[in-house]
Amino acid sequence: MEFCRSQILALVALFLFPVAYGWGIDGHLITCRIAQPRLSKAAADAVENLLPAYADNDLGSVCAWADRVKFHYHWSSALHFIDTPDNLCTYQYSRDCKDEDGIKDRCVAGAINNYTTQLLTYGNENSASQYNLTEALLFLSHFMGDIHQPLHVGFTSDRGANTIDVHWYTRKTVLHHVWDNSIIETEEERFYDSNVNEMIDAIQKNITTVWAKQAKAWEACSKTTCPDLYASEGIKAACDWAYKGVHEDSVLEDDYFLTRSPMVNLRLAQGGVRLAATLNRIFG
Ligand SMILES: *[C@@H]1O[C@H](CO)[C@@H](O)[C@H](O)[C@H]1NC(C)=O
Ligand SMILES: *[C@@H]1O[C@H](CO)[C@@H](O)[C@H](O)[C@H]1NC(C)=O
Ligand SMILES: *[C@@H]1O[C@H](CO)[C@@H](O)[C@H](O)[C@H]1NC(C)=O
Ligand SMILES: [Zn+2]
Repeated sequence: MEFCRSQILALVALFLFPVAYGWGIDGHLITCRIAQPRLSKAAADAVENLLPAYADNDLGSVCAWADRVKFHYHWSSALHFIDTPDNLCTYQYSRDCKDEDGIKDRCVAGAINNYTTQLLTYGNENSASQYNLTEALLFLSHFMGDIHQPLHVGFTSDRGANTIDVHWYTRKTVLHHVWDNSIIETEEERFYDSNVNEMIDAIQKNITTVWAKQAKAWEACSKTTCPDLYASEGIKAACDWAYKGVHEDSVLEDDYFLTRSPMVNLRLAQGGVRLAATLNRIFG
């Protein structure tokens, strides 16, 4: 496979701005791969129809698209996260869903509502031209992942733990990146032979066994989608698990990894189950 210019640029961007991303590429891949097999016939058909041809009907392959266009679509960069007041450990849409300039609705919860509303026009001839529904699907699939990464609903002054320097075992990084990438990568290496597909299989198996009852409850939502619920859970998990016990220059090793990875797996599972449930409600 040849690298095209945009792929090289994306790789350069990844290298230059490693802390700016949501779940890393694998986190997004995992949520979308969990979601796609759970789609109803109507939703699966709509997704197949909307996906770009190069995706080959694999939602996972384009689940990180929104991170790749962040620089080109500069307006979209505020839509990947929510900043909440320091140390409060709560989220409120009216108080917190805004960008750095205070413009309302410009946060990941606002974006999930936005792209859900756009996708509800699918199949409606009159409004078909108003939005690019391929982009709406790719944004929604990505943002449903981001909102489940606890530190994407983090504190304002540390930018979701992007300014907290830590060591992941022997490597220097920031706490935000530990939750985007390091925990997932270490799980893959230690437990799944560095094979992300085996990790996806393990999470899927738990969704149908140990989490089967809870998974029903994760899907529940009286509207088409419930981003405020997902964000409230997120800041609580950020306080109880991500920030907890960590300070500037902490060395995070097995104690942290083994106690936090179950929370990462749970959030990946919830993100996938809820993305599917949302798409099923949109296209159902
Ligand atoms: C809603 O979607 C449109 C089209 O992509 C975009 O221009 C706008 O910034 C989005 N707003 C939010 C809050 O997501
Ligand atoms: C919709 O967006 C996709 C992805 O950016 C792009 O490839 C496609 O050309 C767009 N479609 C239209 C009709 O503009
Ligand atoms: C699946 O559930 C078992 C039993 O609770 C747990 O030990 C394991 O870590 C879980 N695996 C994943 C990937 O969630
Ligand atoms: Zn993101």
